[in-house]
Amino acid sequence: MQNIKNTTKETLRRLLPLPLRQRLCIGLNRSKWLTPDVRYWWTRELLRDFAKKDRDGYHRFLWSNHLAYSLTYEVEQRFGEENMVASRRAFISDLRNQLSKMDIVPERDIRSVFEVGCSLGYQLRYFETDLFAAATEIAGVDIDGYAIEQGRRHLEAAGSRVRLICGDMAHLNDQLDGRIYDIIFCTGVLMYLAQEDAARVMQVMLRSSRVMVALSDPGYAQLDNGLLEHSVIREHDGSRFHNLDAMVKTLGGTVLFRRWEGHRLVDGQRMYFVFAKQ
Ligand SMILES: C[S@@+](CC[C@H](N)C(=O)[O-])C[C@H]1O[C@@H](n2cnc3c(N)ncnc32)[C@H](O)[C@@H]1O
Repeated sequence: MQNIKNTTKETLRRLLPLPLRQRLCIGLNRSKWLTPDVRYWWTRELLRDFAKKDRDGYHRFLWSNHLAYSLTYEVEQRFGEENMVASRRAFISDLRNQLSKMDIVPERDIRSVFEVGCSLGYQLRYFETDLFAAATEIAGVDIDGYAIEQGRRHLEAAGSRVRLICGDMAHLNDQLDGRIYDIIFCTGVLMYLAQEDAARVMQVMLRSSRVMVALSDPGYAQLDNGLLEHSVIREHDGSRFHNLDAMVKTLGGTVLFRRWEGHRLVDGQRMYFVFAKQ
């Protein structure tokens, strides 16, 4: 049975050119009669060769079309403090502590924040309502047009000032438009880029932030990410474990705070946070 399944998948991949399979995946994901798991499975199987040949192109294709792992990024599942996972609470708590060490009161002193890979804008909304009450500029960019559209609608209805931009972080320099933000956030996003491309985004973030860049990426289980000589592929989804510490230092930045807890899982995540500045 397994052999028949594998042969069918391989035959489909061989017979149908990639652009056609990509369109098929987009169509499949609009078919709400298929469960998200089935849609995810077919997307991965139909594009397996693409994922191998062009890892970054594959991630871009999935995120920009709101496919596969992006299916859980929906307003009801993401907005609101009740949807904030434990690892993100730990991140916010570390951020508060670090700001306090720098004699910065988040509610009073932080005036502008930007998030790279902001999805629907749920994190930015939390910053607006719960953390940075004095912020007048709260903005973010994401490649997922569906998430940006849904997020904008939700934020507008809530009377929010959060501004969402749809675009690829490869063009972050243009999206920031020469502005300097107090804090730039980038959580769970650089992992979808190759080391050199992630470093280019990091360079823009470092030079465009006044107080710090606050980063979170998957922690490597076997070894502290800070000891990795180069980025390592995460087998189950083809994303990457980066050494963000080294990236910051190579770019002439300073690591203000770091946490690596790759040895334990917190809501399915292995925590690796780096707060840095130029
Ligand atoms: C795992 S989600 C993390 C979302 C959010 N930052 C968080 O921490 O909850 C990754 C996000 O990065 C976005 N993303 C992936 N590649 C991108 C790119 N090249 N440019 C901009 N956004 C990208 C995805 O669309 C998605 O919203």
